[in-house]
Amino acid sequence: MSELIRFGVSIDQDLLENYDHLIGERGYATRSEALRDLIREALIQQKIEAQANTEALGSLTLVYDHHARNLSQEMGAIQHDFHDTILSVMHLHVSHDDCMEIIALRGEVSSIVKLSNRLLSLKGIKNGKLFLTLPSSVITEKKF
Ligand code: NI
Repeated sequence: MSELIRFGVSIDQDLLENYDHLIGERGYATRSEALRDLIREALIQQKIEAQANTEALGSLTLVYDHHARNLSQEMGAIQHDFHDTILSVMHLHVSHDDCMEIIALRGEVSSIVKLSNRLLSLKGIKNGKLFLTLPSSVITEKKF
């Protein structure tokens, strides 16, 4: 393990109070431990995204307006373009107006990101996020 470094952080008081509340709820003993996890997470994501040919796993969650014009057809057409990358799709009718789709993905990082960006940028998608990760055996081999 490398040497432990202490450094100061300037931060808005409101932001720090919210952060302390959050880390308390998540059960972190110290701000430092929570910050280390945040940094590790960012580094893992950056490493994955920087290696376009890496085989990765992903899940893309989309929340959208069921009534948005042509949206379902456009989403379907894009998913057919990436049928090799999509393992499974779960569709949930969450209310009269809203749908949620959770798409399980496996393939080269470049394909997963391309597919996700095409879906996320469609008009009518209210919120969405891609989670990218690696098989656990690969994560434990990599040094962060
Ligand atoms: Ni639906």
